[in-house]
Amino acid sequence: MCGIVGYVGGQSALDVVVAGLKRLEYRGYDSAGVAVLADGSLAAAKKAGKLVNLEKELSTRPLPTGSTGIGHTRWATHGAPNDANAHPHLDNAGRVAVVHNGIIENFAALRAELAERGHDLGSETDTEVVAHLLAEEFSAGGDLAEAMRLVCRRLEGAFTLVAVHADDPDTVVGARRNSPLVVGVGEGEAFLASDVAAFIEHTRSAVELGQDQVVELRRDGVTVTDFHGSPAEVREYHVDWDASAAEKGGYDYFMLKEIAEQPKAVADTLLGRVDAAGSLTLDEIRIPHEVLREAQKVVIVACGTAFHAGLIAKYAIEHWTRVPCEVELASEFRYRDPILDQRVLVVAISQSGETMDTLMALRHAREQGAKVLAICNTNGSTIPRESDAVLYTHAGPEVAVASTKAFLTQLVACYLVALYLGQVRGTKWGDEVRDVVRDLARIAEDVDRVLETMEPVRELARSLADKPTVLFLGRHVGYPVALEGALKLKELAYMHAEGFAAGELKHGPIALIEQDVPVVVVAPSPRGRSVLHDKIVSNIQEIRARGARTIVIAEEGDEAVVPYADHLIRIPATPVLLQPLVSTVPLQVFACELATARGNEVDQPRNLAKSVTVE
Ligand code: F6R
Repeated sequence: MCGIVGYVGGQSALDVVVAGLKRLEYRGYDSAGVAVLADGSLAAAKKAGKLVNLEKELSTRPLPTGSTGIGHTRWATHGAPNDANAHPHLDNAGRVAVVHNGIIENFAALRAELAERGHDLGSETDTEVVAHLLAEEFSAGGDLAEAMRLVCRRLEGAFTLVAVHADDPDTVVGARRNSPLVVGVGEGEAFLASDVAAFIEHTRSAVELGQDQVVELRRDGVTVTDFHGSPAEVREYHVDWDASAAEKGGYDYFMLKEIAEQPKAVADTLLGRVDAAGSLTLDEIRIPHEVLREAQKVVIVACGTAFHAGLIAKYAIEHWTRVPCEVELASEFRYRDPILDQRVLVVAISQSGETMDTLMALRHAREQGAKVLAICNTNGSTIPRESDAVLYTHAGPEVAVASTKAFLTQLVACYLVALYLGQVRGTKWGDEVRDVVRDLARIAEDVDRVLETMEPVRELARSLADKPTVLFLGRHVGYPVALEGALKLKELAYMHAEGFAAGELKHGPIALIEQDVPVVVVAPSPRGRSVLHDKIVSNIQEIRARGARTIVIAEEGDEAVVPYADHLIRIPATPVLLQPLVSTVPLQVFACELATARGNEVDQPRNLAKSVTVE
């Protein structure tokens, strides 16, 4: 949440910062602002609403050109999303500017203390106190990095802070506790950002910042210390994401592009890990085999879409390994005193690697002695760094707020973990599993085939644009797919959508069925567990008899559903447990098209942000 950019170097800081903010706007779009240092003074502009409002403001009231600057795109926590609460925040003399991501929990006490010393704080934000504290510390010592360290030691909560001071014109200082911040190092220039996407067009050389560290950026280099000034060890890495991966590439929305990229994302995530002969190579899971062999339980923690991937993983893990698996919303996990010890393997799933709820859950798990394996899409992010091992998904940057390709790759990674556990523990490693590995190696082609047949789904979505509600039903792995379909529709189309286990219908939700209410049913494969299939056919008949308009997602060759489907969406036949890789895709397309038909902003749905870095 909130995107931050900082720059010092030979280019126009304003241009670099605004371009960086464009790439980070998915992190929040309640307001945007910039500050640049030029000719010994500080100039700032900020505007409520999307970045485009700030750009308009800058075209009518341009800022002077300078080579040091910072910027921010906001997802509001403290204070309404108006101009006054937009970042950057300045001290009363207008010499220091600060941008912030996170929540400063003790800001009320600090604010009262500053007011007593005569400071005039004009916004409702927690951030403004930092500008005033920095101004005080800087005037005492004349060193912005040291001022930042002193201030950070007084702050409680989660924060990424980036600041500039007019009296130190070639320096940008950043600090990090619990919220993301990465450094980009170029030739004679340096960058700070919440996400590498902000600077990959300038440099691929990045430095991870650890917890409780302060970084000082100058044209000739970068210095990192802890909050007490001791030099910190830093990890440099090469960003292999292609800059064009963070562009729309001819699509109207990032979401459309990301849906289309799914076959490649799935194939990339499998690359080098499975082969067509049915074998599996996963040395990167650096958790000792005896820990995996002796694990008594797997606990998956995640949020939102990633949680749905976890729900599907449970079916695979329990079926292939016979190890009990629990799946828990990360936001609930640590507050219920879960039973954890070294015999529990915790799997934390996160696209961004920065979701605070998931981070807190994994920290709690490790404190209790459990080993944590992260499944993550973002190299260098906090969740993999704080885990015992990581299995990266290779979806590439996901910019649209609604997760699509990351979800499919999370599923792939979950299947790999389940298969690997089975392999290491010697359970169920027979022909069935070898067949699944072979099928996985081919699954990207199936995803591609689904994408080629989506026009009727788009048409259907448009025809439902004025419906107040859409319900989703599934059984077995189709149940989490139904939950995911409903989540996509809620977040994008802003309409009432709910997913149910089809077996639960008669225990209450069937009362929601009335004439012409659209119900999407994810039919399980008629092969394998045909008893499940028979049951869903009965469920479809039950709702249809009560007037529902049935939209059935069914495998090619599944003829039993045909008489009861008002609309039929075909997907390729896959092994039972892998079906979500193909059945989710029409639901993504459906939600995207329906949202567009309702005139909604697909890539930036209201009230949301992509990386949720507050609890
Ligand atoms: C929904 C969506 C969110 C995220 C959730 C977790 O489309 O994107 O529900 O899945 O906020 O985010 P990560 O995976 O970054 O931890």
